[in-house]
Amino acid sequence: MGTGTRTPLVAGNWKMNGALRESRDLVAELAAGVGQGGRAEMLLCPPYVYLAAAARWLEATPIALGAQNLASEVDPGAFTGEVSGAMLADVGCAYVIVGHSERRTLYGETDEQVVAKFRAARTAGLGPILCVGETLEEREEGLTEAVVTRQVNAVLGTLGAGVLASAVVAYEPVWAIGTGRTASPDQAQEVHALIRGLIAAQDATIAAGLRILYGGSVNGGNAAELLAREDIDGGLVGGASLDASQFLTIFQAASG
Ligand code: PGA
Repeated sequence: MGTGTRTPLVAGNWKMNGALRESRDLVAELAAGVGQGGRAEMLLCPPYVYLAAAARWLEATPIALGAQNLASEVDPGAFTGEVSGAMLADVGCAYVIVGHSERRTLYGETDEQVVAKFRAARTAGLGPILCVGETLEEREEGLTEAVVTRQVNAVLGTLGAGVLASAVVAYEPVWAIGTGRTASPDQAQEVHALIRGLIAAQDATIAAGLRILYGGSVNGGNAAELLAREDIDGGLVGGASLDASQFLTIFQAASG
């Protein structure tokens, strides 16, 4: 895992899963398993409607709360169905996922919208978790570097490297999400190093401190070897974050 200065982050992206009681039980199991915490930081990103309740369940724990998405608009107004960064901060979120591939592919989010959401997250004082990653087709065509560079540069080029000081980047190859097919530690490390290098070209200090998470079929069995790599500073975990024992195993691998 990265240098000693980067606190590993293990984030659970619940996506559109769970119910109120089930979520409360999962949080209770995780809180018991985490205890006073570890070297790593744990973060949970439940669906919007459970955030306020989750904030209360997490009160006496070291576990942080985040959302899966936010509005690109900053000021309140006539945006039916949207939730602003300020509202997320208001109910206790510290982080928000921005530009997840499911948002990009299923809901048509463009790089421009991702940049606007990233900016809105920062304005609200939230730590954006910027997701980038190539599709299987793009990898097979040798476009991984180009795609990831374009997605990172959309933010870097518009907002500058300074905005990454309180942010997190997650490399999530689309072909590895929810497929049970994870990137090899070598494949992931290569892209993580590319991302850090892109940022270092603008600001070496921010790049050195930036947490870059890997996401895509991370589970209790493969986390340790991924997290052992130099530029992999944690995981963004979907499916396995819904299972307390799997998620705690990943957390322990990151804390070790
Ligand atoms: P997965 O999802 O762990 O289920 O592959 C990861 C993600 O989409 O963040």
